[in-house]
Amino acid sequence: MHKTLGTLCFCLVMSVESYSLNHCTVRTSHNKTFIMAFCNQMNFHIVPRDIPDQTNNLDLSQNVISQLVRDDFKNLRFLKVLNVSGNHISWMADGTFKDLVALEVLNLSKNNISSLSDATFEGLGSLFTLHLGENQIQSIGQATFQGLTSVRLVNLSFNGLCDLERLRSVLEVTHLKELYIANNNIGRFSTDRFPNASLQLNVLDVSRNPLSHFSVKANRLACLQTLDLSFLDSTDGLQWEVSSTALTHTMKRLYLSQSTIAAPGLLSILQTMVNSSVEYLKVSHLNLSQVPGVLQKVCLWFPKLQILYLQGNNFVRVEGTPFENCTQVTSLELSWNGLEELSEGVFNGLNRLRRLFLSHNLLQTIPNLTGLASGLETLDLRNNQIEKIHLNDFAHLRNLRYLNLVGNKITTIQSQDFDGLHRLEQLKLGNNLILDIPEPFSSSLRNLKTLELFANKMSALRKGTFRNLHSLVSLKMADNQISQIEEGSFQGLSKLKSLFLGGNKITMKTLNTWNVFGGLSLLDDGLLNLPANSLQGLPSLKRVYANNLNLNFIHPNTFTYTPHLQFLELTGNPLGHIDPSVFHATPNLRVLYLDSTRVQSLDFLIHTNLTELQILTVDSNEIMRKKNPFTCSCENAWFLNWSLSDPQVQVTFLNTFTCSHPASYVGMKLVDFKTDLCLVDYEFVCFISSFSIVAVTMVAASVYHYLRWQVAYVYYYLMAFLYDRRQRAQPLQAYEYDAFVSYNRNDELWVLKELIPNLEEKQGWKLCLHHRDFEPGKAIVENIVDSIYRSRKTICLISRHFLESEWCSREMQVASVRLMDEKEDILVLVFLEDLPSAQLSPYHRMRKLVKRKTYLKWPQNREEDNLFWHKLKTALNHHTGYYGLVEHFQ
Ligand SMILES: *[C@@H]1O[C@H](CO)[C@@H](O)[C@H](O)[C@H]1NC(C)=O
Ligand SMILES: *[C@@H]1O[C@H](CO)[C@@H](O)[C@H](O)[C@H]1NC(C)=O
Ligand SMILES: *[C@@H]1O[C@H](CO)[C@@H](O)[C@H](O)[C@H]1NC(C)=O
Ligand SMILES: *[C@@H]1O[C@H](CO)[C@@H](O)[C@H](O)[C@H]1NC(C)=O
Ligand SMILES: *[C@@H]1O[C@H](CO)[C@@H](O)[C@H](O)[C@H]1NC(C)=O
Ligand SMILES: *[C@@H]1O[C@H](CO)[C@@H](O)[C@H](O)[C@H]1NC(C)=O
Ligand SMILES: *[C@@H]1O[C@H](CO)[C@@H](O)[C@H](O)[C@H]1NC(C)=O
Ligand SMILES: *[C@@H]1O[C@H](CO)[C@@H](O)[C@H](O)[C@H]1NC(C)=O
Ligand SMILES: *[C@@H]1O[C@H](CO)[C@@H](O)[C@H](O)[C@H]1NC(C)=O
Repeated sequence: MHKTLGTLCFCLVMSVESYSLNHCTVRTSHNKTFIMAFCNQMNFHIVPRDIPDQTNNLDLSQNVISQLVRDDFKNLRFLKVLNVSGNHISWMADGTFKDLVALEVLNLSKNNISSLSDATFEGLGSLFTLHLGENQIQSIGQATFQGLTSVRLVNLSFNGLCDLERLRSVLEVTHLKELYIANNNIGRFSTDRFPNASLQLNVLDVSRNPLSHFSVKANRLACLQTLDLSFLDSTDGLQWEVSSTALTHTMKRLYLSQSTIAAPGLLSILQTMVNSSVEYLKVSHLNLSQVPGVLQKVCLWFPKLQILYLQGNNFVRVEGTPFENCTQVTSLELSWNGLEELSEGVFNGLNRLRRLFLSHNLLQTIPNLTGLASGLETLDLRNNQIEKIHLNDFAHLRNLRYLNLVGNKITTIQSQDFDGLHRLEQLKLGNNLILDIPEPFSSSLRNLKTLELFANKMSALRKGTFRNLHSLVSLKMADNQISQIEEGSFQGLSKLKSLFLGGNKITMKTLNTWNVFGGLSLLDDGLLNLPANSLQGLPSLKRVYANNLNLNFIHPNTFTYTPHLQFLELTGNPLGHIDPSVFHATPNLRVLYLDSTRVQSLDFLIHTNLTELQILTVDSNEIMRKKNPFTCSCENAWFLNWSLSDPQVQVTFLNTFTCSHPASYVGMKLVDFKTDLCLVDYEFVCFISSFSIVAVTMVAASVYHYLRWQVAYVYYYLMAFLYDRRQRAQPLQAYEYDAFVSYNRNDELWVLKELIPNLEEKQGWKLCLHHRDFEPGKAIVENIVDSIYRSRKTICLISRHFLESEWCSREMQVASVRLMDEKEDILVLVFLEDLPSAQLSPYHRMRKLVKRKTYLKWPQNREEDNLFWHKLKTALNHHTGYYGLVEHFQ
């Protein structure tokens, strides 16, 4: 058994939880009750036929299917979610979805559907949600939606519907709650013609239509809560006839942004809803500053207002106390207004305000916010012209958690600037002109978790600057001009997890207070050694970004202070060689970026214990220019196989790698190197020989994988063993199948065209085929073991693909276990192609079997077909495995 372990652990990569249909993957949910088939992005022209009947969720999105025909979803009576979005569907047969009695969600968006016939959705009695957005729909049958008795949400946005009459069938759906008809060609919207049924609508989206007429009569749309009228194109004016009681009682959200309606027209629209229950009002980009006193009126008209969006309305100055009556407002958006000035007390009355957005304006000072009650939590002052923070600017904002000052002109900050902000968690000061932080940050900032100082002009870090920031987790200082870091600069940052220092001018000279290691070649620029103790005192650090720092050496002790390191970026440092001991203290490293580091070999990885590594990139290294010499020997076979077969590994530009050794392979493409000529050995996976890599991107947990293979193998063997015990404990039962057929999916055509017609249809055998007879939802291994024991014989269809495939070798393994136990030969070997002896050499067991027993060969000459089928019949009939004709392996 031990001998074969090598072969097997090489093959078993796939997770036990999933298996592949033809080109789809089937997975079960964690609770095992939900079966999902993923067939997305597989270039399917038609709906694949082998979807298991039990499937609950089928994702066929982003293929190139152009038609749906009647039997496409036959038998899928448990299907709940069907996603066919992003195809080219332009035609659907009547009754296509007829069998989908359990379907709840149907996504047909992003197709090319132009009309829906009366019978398109026949049978979808359970459908709840129907997505038809982004098609070309112009017509809908009068009865199309008639059978959809459960439907609650219909999305018909981005289509070509030009009047409500075409939507009649939708509007007649009783209990329809949400209707999206944005971006069609609807000019008139009137409830006059509405059937009674649609009066229960909660959400109506008519945005992005060329509306010229909108009328809602009293008591119509009496349940409406959300009305989206944004992006209306009403250049010729909008005729607005809304009964004063029509939309007032239940209305909660009103979106009116960015339409072409002139401001006075808008005002009259708002007036029809005076005293309504609107809580969320979005009136952005409407040039409202043209309307005198509009700010004052908004809160008078909508006394329940909580969220008010006023972006892009050209309010350059706001004076007086316009928000005096906005006592319920919690969130106020005034960004993109060109605001230059906010007079004192402007925000008086906003007693419940929690979030204030003033970004992208022209404010030169931080506005006087003393009028605001102390409840403010978020203050966004991004992209203004603020130069200085004054004493007490924020002093009374005791509850502030998030302060954003990115993109201003601040040159310096002082300790007391943030005094009193005891609750502050995020402070963003990136993209300013800060030259220096002369004093430590205020001791008030004891809850600060994120501090951003990227893209400023700092040239030095001083001792103790961050010493009060005991909770700081992330410190971003990339893209400054830091050339000096005093000892103790990071003092106090005991919780820091991420430190961004990339894009600075840290050089050797500036680190002379540190214990720097000598004897290294320095270029004029002063290439850098990261001081071995530079990360001392940062025990929680998880992420280190040390890109483009001109490092040419990393001392082995550098990361001994940071045992929790998970992420390390060393991109753009001319390292050349990496000492494996650098990673001895970082067992949790998951991501390692080594692009453009001039590494020539990944040898060092073998001497590390990076069992958690998931992402390793080694892109653009120097060797690339030298056409990346790769040794094409069996020692490197693991790499090639890993790159090609592990679904979690992706090696970019793999096909550009060429062999440079040994001499006989020079110039050959690496991918053409036939690894199956190598004797596969258990130890090879652990052996990383010297090779050079260029443009390699690998996503993998390498060591973890090696272990998992073995775990999977042991698991499967145990399954077979247990099953065997179980079977033997029971009285002999009749076999369900005559033969289980083990084959590779590349040979499926042969199975469908030759094997099934001959054995099942002509000779009457009952075969077990995994694509057809496996129970979905069951672990693949269980399925294999089950099927083999439920069949009298096992036929292995041997081809190159079969030998290379992992599942097939498992099947042979199980069959051999049974063979050994039952002392009865159940294995029938059929060679589908000529395989030279050399190709069999890595497959010890196969070679042994072939030597020991006889086998059948699919004739190249069609005249011998009949003889072949006759021999196969004899083999299936026979109880000892005699195949009629002896052909010895040469
Ligand atoms: C099982 O999981 C699916 C999908 O995650 C979920 O929809 C379903 O409700 C779960 N069923 C049970 C019984 O927990
Ligand atoms: C359908 O597929 C699209 C694209 O793959 C995806 O974004 C979406 O979440 C899927 N929706 C459902 C309901 O499966
Ligand atoms: C439907 O599919 C589209 C396009 O693939 C996707 O963007 C959208 O999120 C999906 N909708 C749902 C509800 O899954
Ligand atoms: C969409 O369908 C129309 C005919 O209805 C056809 O002319 C057009 O080429 C189709 N577009 C795509 C992208 O399939
Ligand atoms: C409706 O469909 C449009 C277009 O596909 C999409 O952008 C929008 O998010 C959808 N809305 C909902 C609520 O599904
Ligand atoms: C619609 O409802 C009104 C009263 O709400 C009723 O008078 C009218 O007959 C109903 N129309 C239909 C077609 O049911
Ligand atoms: C706020 O409401 C009070 C009472 O209705 C009114 O006197 C006052 O003028 C209003 N303030 C503004 C700014 O409209
Ligand atoms: C801010 O306004 C308050 C009155 O609302 C005033 O007492 C205070 O002096 C002002 N602060 C500054 C810095 O102007
Ligand atoms: C890897 O870890 C194992 C056990 O923790 C230890 O025996 C071995 O020396 C380590 N190897 C390296 C290269 O650090």
